[in-house]
Amino acid sequence: MTAIHPSILNCDIADLRGELKKIAGADVAHVDVMDNHFVPNLSWGLPVVEAVLAHTCLPVDAHLMIRDADRWAPAYAEAGCQIVTPHAEATTAPVRLARELHRLGAGAGIALRPATPLEAVADVLGEFDLLLLMTVEPGFGGQSFIESMLPKIRRARELVGARGLDLRVQVDGGITIQSIERAAEAGADVFVAGSAVYRADDALAAIAELREAAATHRHDHGR
Ligand code: DX5
Ligand code: ZN
Repeated sequence: MTAIHPSILNCDIADLRGELKKIAGADVAHVDVMDNHFVPNLSWGLPVVEAVLAHTCLPVDAHLMIRDADRWAPAYAEAGCQIVTPHAEATTAPVRLARELHRLGAGAGIALRPATPLEAVADVLGEFDLLLLMTVEPGFGGQSFIESMLPKIRRARELVGARGLDLRVQVDGGITIQSIERAAEAGADVFVAGSAVYRADDALAAIAELREAAATHRHDHGR
């Protein structure tokens, strides 16, 4: 199933409640946590994520661009996020962490920076519900989709098929009405979109258009 997860990173944080209302037709709200160490930007931490959870009916997907995820990620599961996604580069015990997130009632994701090979997590993917492939260098919204990530998306989809994994393949960064078609064809099925949603005049219409474009370009379409 194709899913659109709008990122609230570049929304008007002073009007969080209103900004969350704009994306009520989305599947999940994607919340980017940045610590100014793992990435050169600081967004927010647990208190703001708790405020998001309190003010939206949408499930929340927490993308943790923070160091020492083994220590900090479980609190996001306890807070009620539907899925918690630390970076592979920031966890030393991903299997233990995935099991801990599951024990706390959340789904477990694992994210890869553009230069981190799939092989870094290939052997532990069975522990996870979602693989997040960054399609920009993490840290900021509004960047351009890195086209050379398409083969990585394709290989991830092949791996999921070959192993029969129950794993969503999420792409994050530079997703627009154009790039979403290529990412979907390559095999992604969950799409994070920040500026494509929040810079549109009508966020709900933008979400619907993205969903339609992704669905008509699904990798298995017509097979
Ligand atoms: C970047 C974040 C993204 C970002 C996406 O590090 O992980 O979720 O907000 O924004 P766009 O869609 O504008 O690239
Ligand atoms: Zn993100």
